[in-house]
Amino acid sequence: MRLINVNAIREGDIIARDIISYEGGILLTRSSKFKNAFRQKLLERNIYEVYIDDELSQGISPQDIINPQIRRQINQDIKTEFEKIKHTLDINVEGISRITTTLFEELSKKEIVCDVMDLKMNDDYTYQHCIGVAILTTIVCNKMGIRKDHAHKIVMGALMHDIGKIIIPKNTLNKPEKLTQEEYELLKTHVEIGYRIVEKNSSVSPITKLAVLCHHEREDGSGYPLGKGDELHIGAKIVGVCDVFHALMSNRPYRQALSVKEVIAIAQMEKINVPIRQVVESILAFYPVGSTVLLSNGDIGIVEKNFVQDVARPLVKVVYNVNTHQKHEYKLNLQERLDVCVAEKIPDIPHS
Ligand SMILES: [Fe+2]
Repeated sequence: MRLINVNAIREGDIIARDIISYEGGILLTRSSKFKNAFRQKLLERNIYEVYIDDELSQGISPQDIINPQIRRQINQDIKTEFEKIKHTLDINVEGISRITTTLFEELSKKEIVCDVMDLKMNDDYTYQHCIGVAILTTIVCNKMGIRKDHAHKIVMGALMHDIGKIIIPKNTLNKPEKLTQEEYELLKTHVEIGYRIVEKNSSVSPITKLAVLCHHEREDGSGYPLGKGDELHIGAKIVGVCDVFHALMSNRPYRQALSVKEVIAIAQMEKINVPIRQVVESILAFYPVGSTVLLSNGDIGIVEKNFVQDVARPLVKVVYNVNTHQKHEYKLNLQERLDVCVAEKIPDIPHS
């Protein structure tokens, strides 16, 4: 299967994976044929790329870092837990802890390369973001060798880091235009609101509480709410860095998701912890498996596999030469062929 831009998909193309809507319903089922009438519906739901099956992409199958069934379960569980928090303004520690344990079980494999598709769910942004930040935080804690019991508490903080936003009006959270100063000040209160919710529960670890309160703090003291950078706990730093990356990689009402290249460039200008930022950079594949890429030698191919050794140099199944307009198939491992690199990700393979 391969990823194709929704604007490039053609009538009759075979859908390779179920496309799920915000509400959890299936918009298009796996193996169904695409119809032009679907295009607008997908775009309206901020779905810009879908997987299709065709001859060119045979043998390419993206490996999810979390089993899709377990992922759906995590998604449901986090929604249930957040609904409970909304009603009781208290945390069901066991429920959040169970989700955290599942994340560790799924993500404990050593050599994880994570791509934008692993962090994307066609779901409400709040849930998508909490789970996305928790996935990144779990991988980063594993990579940094943080003690298991500490890491568990940090990931619980990642799952709940924006819980205070349940009180912030949706029209402020989802405003497409720049926030007014007043609205921004209101948005900033989500860290204290979140802290007040977790703080009163004595079963929640101080490490988790600090991650909720301090994920917008920066080491130079420029963050909020306390502005005490140098005393920042490692857990708050990790969640803060993963929060920045995941937000930039997501579709927002005011802009589309940025490419990994753009995300890294912006993150490098943020005042986030440098060693943690570098760990995140080392696990994010530039081009998800199934993406169409133009190579520096003029060939066009489909990304078949990513490697933890260098996330910008995948194994590519070359299918077309842009100079000769000829179809030709061979595999090019960019880990070995250092004279060739990916020039850019493109929406589709040209049709000759
Ligand atoms: Fe936040």
